[in-house]
Amino acid sequence: VKQGNGVKGLVDSGLSKVPYQYIQPVDQRISKSNIDANVVQLPLIDLSGLDGPEHEQAAVEESLVKAAETFGFFHVVNHGLPIQLLEELKDAAHQFFNQPPDKKSVYLKGVSPSPFVDYGTSFLPDSKKSFEWKDYFLMIYISDDDALKYWPDLCREVVLNYIKTSTKMARRIMEILMKNVGVELDDSMAETYMGVRVVNMNYYPTCPDPELTIGLGRHSDFGILTVLLQDDIGGLSIRVQEDGKEETWIEIPPPIPGALLINIGDTLQILSNGKYKSAEHRVRTSTKSRVSIPLFLFPGPKVKIGPLPQVVEKDGKAQYKECLFGDYKNHYFAQGYSGKKALDFVK
Ligand code: SIN
Ligand code: FE2
Repeated sequence: VKQGNGVKGLVDSGLSKVPYQYIQPVDQRISKSNIDANVVQLPLIDLSGLDGPEHEQAAVEESLVKAAETFGFFHVVNHGLPIQLLEELKDAAHQFFNQPPDKKSVYLKGVSPSPFVDYGTSFLPDSKKSFEWKDYFLMIYISDDDALKYWPDLCREVVLNYIKTSTKMARRIMEILMKNVGVELDDSMAETYMGVRVVNMNYYPTCPDPELTIGLGRHSDFGILTVLLQDDIGGLSIRVQEDGKEETWIEIPPPIPGALLINIGDTLQILSNGKYKSAEHRVRTSTKSRVSIPLFLFPGPKVKIGPLPQVVEKDGKAQYKECLFGDYKNHYFAQGYSGKKALDFVK
């Protein structure tokens, strides 16, 4: 199996069976019966209420807090991102992956002109026994300069626009979540904790035998918040614990068109001393190809992360140790996908 042209390249070459490198051990597979039994609609939160009268604002804030404390995942509408932009972004992702191999392979690790632009297949191929059924194209945003220099023409503008508009929304959500734990999020704090932004275009090709493969292994996101745009195919599931019950995987159907999915990352769980939940999630494959485009917001490597003093004071005890975000991230990647074991680093 050559990885240079991605899983999409394999599929386009007409394969009818899953190559053995992509066959998952039985315990990693996602069984169909499990999916049908556990389909759950996430809260759908209308953010327009935040611009309404006070009682509406309060109601929206309450639903955001509740969703962050329970599922750690929720859908939002009237989020300030034009629907047209979301459509253009999905189109750009399709255009990128539909290019001939030599247009994509220039961004492979080792040859990419910048460590901030990266095309590949499987998230952590080195640390995995079997590969994931997906290709990705990742752009790390530090400044407009990098984007101008290194990002492909076909998606530069739309991705920059996605970052700018999403950041505004994410900042607003973060303000509310922080206010709820007695912390006022000002510009400098927002820049400290959410200053690094990464856009990842995922392409999960059509799979001849979805039961044998996974699109993306179980993990929680390491940052503060993730904003996810996806098409209408579905395949994402999250692990939740409802009151008094065992943890279970639930399948999250795609939201209504125009809605975005937001989820809490490990760093926000740590800052909030465990109040907000960073839920594990994973993606199955199907006989239809799927596109998803997460935007991750997180701190720079030198930022200290630990439960915020205001929260610890209220709770009486810190649930996590303080560490540098860069060390947490290195630990996270060194682990490979291990569910939420990365959090042990700060326990
Ligand atoms: C991710 O967890 O980064 C992607 C999730 C998805 O493809 O739905
Ligand atoms: Fe994720």
